[in-house]
Amino acid sequence: MIYLKVPRRDGEKTRRELIQKGLFVGGYPILNEGDFVLFPVSGPFGDCETVERDEVKRPIHHDRLKDALSGILSEQELETLIGSFDIIGDIAIIEIPDALESREVDIGNALLSVHKNLKTVLRKLGPMEGEFRVRRVKPIAGEDRMTTLYKESGVLMELDVASVYFSVRLSHERKRISELVKPNERILALFAGVGPFPLVISKTHPDAEIIAIELNPDAVAFMEKNIARNKAKNIKAVLGDARKVVMAGYRDYADRVLMPLPKDAHDFLDVAYAGARDGGMVHFYTFAGISDPFREAAEKAESAAKASGVRIEIASQRIVRPYSPQTVQVVLDLIVRKHVT
Ligand SMILES: C[S@@+](CC[C@H](N)C(=O)[O-])C[C@H]1O[C@@H](n2cnc3c(N)ncnc32)[C@H](O)[C@@H]1O
Repeated sequence: MIYLKVPRRDGEKTRRELIQKGLFVGGYPILNEGDFVLFPVSGPFGDCETVERDEVKRPIHHDRLKDALSGILSEQELETLIGSFDIIGDIAIIEIPDALESREVDIGNALLSVHKNLKTVLRKLGPMEGEFRVRRVKPIAGEDRMTTLYKESGVLMELDVASVYFSVRLSHERKRISELVKPNERILALFAGVGPFPLVISKTHPDAEIIAIELNPDAVAFMEKNIARNKAKNIKAVLGDARKVVMAGYRDYADRVLMPLPKDAHDFLDVAYAGARDGGMVHFYTFAGISDPFREAAEKAESAAKASGVRIEIASQRIVRPYSPQTVQVVLDLIVRKHVT
């Protein structure tokens, strides 16, 4: 790796200039050698000496961001930048504490410098909220836009991060579900968003029949684009409330029902049980306390089953992801038995 050898007293100033000029190469450690600091660079800079060192690229992107910001933010400020960030296509969405508000542009530019494929950095302005589960964001660096293209499991999806819900952290779960699907299944994808679950399933199961129901008109518009883009002819996007749509037209319909609305899915368990055929499977996502998450989830599923007059068996259960220090998102795979004896 090529390093720029800079007298320690000029370290901070040079670091800043390297990042601004796009010469700083993220992912490699910054080296301290005597009275000099060595910065990993893509080429020469001014009169500074360049030297070669055998250093190995580090994979952890949060460390790389911190590296790029050391010398720009103080040690104390770096400590407060705990926030993780997500990358969706060429957009990064980062959490920046209020105490670092005045440094948000520096942080955004540093992120662009360590991830060369990024074009835009957005700052989170709050949690996912409202019926559509969207979050407010604002651009802090790069291009001023909210729309991106994201690829997962061979599927290309377009979405606007400010008007629809999307989480890259569910990609493993989407793959897991698509691997469970059997030939010629009928699937009800409730709370479908821009269509990631239906599209990932459709990619490997073009023989499935998938009804994808979503309340947010913006999300449905993107889902329709994504269906066309991926030639996923077996997905029907339906704009509407999952309860009304299923109860009016899809009772006893599905081999599989997906419920990726962890905050409120328990309120729709009766709808999912109604939409499943006898012996069909419901994937119930919910948030639960870390102390006994599966018991809490099972109690919700059981009490809704009793009220609906069906029987359920828990085929499997797993933690999908940590959600907060005290909460996890879990999924129960439930087999629905309708002919209760
Ligand atoms: C947590 S998001 C999941 C979106 C998508 N499945 C994904 O994984 O990206 C939940 C979605 O359910 C939608 N939603 C909320 N209430 C709904 C309802 N009653 N009927 C249909 N969709 C609903 C929201 O607009 C949001 O897009």
